[in-house]
Amino acid sequence: MHYKVIEQAFTQTELDQFVTYWENNTDKIYHTNSMNKIQDPWDLPIVKEIVKPVLDKHFDTSLKNLGDNLYRHEYPYYPHVDISKSIYPCFNVLIPIAQQNPVEQHFLIYDQWVNQPIGATWLGEWYSKQEGDFDNNKKREYPLGDSVVEGIKGDQILEHLTIQGKEQALFKGLTGVALDFKPGNIIVFDSKHIHATGTMTGGWKMGLTLRFVGDYYEYF
Ligand SMILES: [Fe+2]
Repeated sequence: MHYKVIEQAFTQTELDQFVTYWENNTDKIYHTNSMNKIQDPWDLPIVKEIVKPVLDKHFDTSLKNLGDNLYRHEYPYYPHVDISKSIYPCFNVLIPIAQQNPVEQHFLIYDQWVNQPIGATWLGEWYSKQEGDFDNNKKREYPLGDSVVEGIKGDQILEHLTIQGKEQALFKGLTGVALDFKPGNIIVFDSKHIHATGTMTGGWKMGLTLRFVGDYYEYF
């Protein structure tokens, strides 16, 4: 299995501390593509104090950290893969922290993966409209028919794995799971897998993502 959910790893008080931290540190927030982020969270004292001791129970956190973000956003994000500078194997650790409104919110992890150590974002019809390229997760068109995508077995569109408001063709051929974006849980997965936010209609959501060098299958 290329993903694992660790349930209720953090208390509400701990999650609230992150929300307060965010609101008190607006000067550190970096705004990009409708995503607001505080970068390199592994170096933040709040992460070392609250998150590291919990992660220590599940894997060796002295593994090299590759960054990622403490983030808050209100619009859904395209299917993508986070791999930077050809550094692979690595794995993603996602901690849902808070939602503006208590609506059902999903995080989509697809069975399909990239066969090269590259970051990618599939934009479909937005491919040509998006000027420039992204720093790491370089833009591509559709997963179906893309030579770097492995594991596609058909051309079905599974409704629960699509994002409302995004072009349906983006999801053609993808299979996988829609996990609960449940504050306090931890979702860990092999970084080579395509993933996306689910449909977002309930205002902002906030989370913490960390990425570590190491073989996911050795630890989980
Ligand atoms: Fe990601």
